[in-house]
Amino acid sequence: MIRVDECWAVFIKITIARVDSLRREMKIEILTYGHPTLKQKSESVAGMTPEIRGLIDRMAEAMYSNKGVGLAAPQLGQLLRVVILDVDQVKSETKPRAKGKLHVLINPEILWESQEDEPYVEGCLSIPGVDGKVYRPAQIGVRFRNLRFQDKEMQAEGLLARVIQHEVDHLNGILFVDRLGFTQRALIAGKLSKLRKGIRHPISDERREDKFIF
Ligand code: NI
Repeated sequence: MIRVDECWAVFIKITIARVDSLRREMKIEILTYGHPTLKQKSESVAGMTPEIRGLIDRMAEAMYSNKGVGLAAPQLGQLLRVVILDVDQVKSETKPRAKGKLHVLINPEILWESQEDEPYVEGCLSIPGVDGKVYRPAQIGVRFRNLRFQDKEMQAEGLLARVIQHEVDHLNGILFVDRLGFTQRALIAGKLSKLRKGIRHPISDERREDKFIF
């Protein structure tokens, strides 16, 4: 015999599962390669407002739900100089990845960069299924405004320096594929022209897990 309260428990469980799956379907859209906004220069932010705060919240949701480690405002269609990143996400057996420290960089400005360049195979949330080796300075100094709009400076190296430079490029309408050499570009030309036509390359969850995309 089934008790009424058990029926309710099952009903509630199903409803929660349904709401969860709807929420997943209603993911915030990240603009993809070929969208003209991605080629435009963003404007500086004048001060912290509820709108900017809301934008940062949407950016964090979009970045984490797409298993990215960095995101720039123009990727959500907002031509504003706002960048977020979290390169400390711990890769683990259990999905999703554990969140690390979320950096918010408003109006970031690269003050200096090291002489030596370093290669790294980059991927971008706006260019799904495509990656390429990009050379960038290994260390940088960056000035920015934080969440409280305070003036800050920091030094970065490794993945942190890499992601900041990639995101600052986004604010200037530059994508990582623009920085590839002729041969590498030729190799991905077919995938890029498909993306322009709106054909996305499916990325498996395993691939998302074992690679950092920003
Ligand atoms: Ni990107």
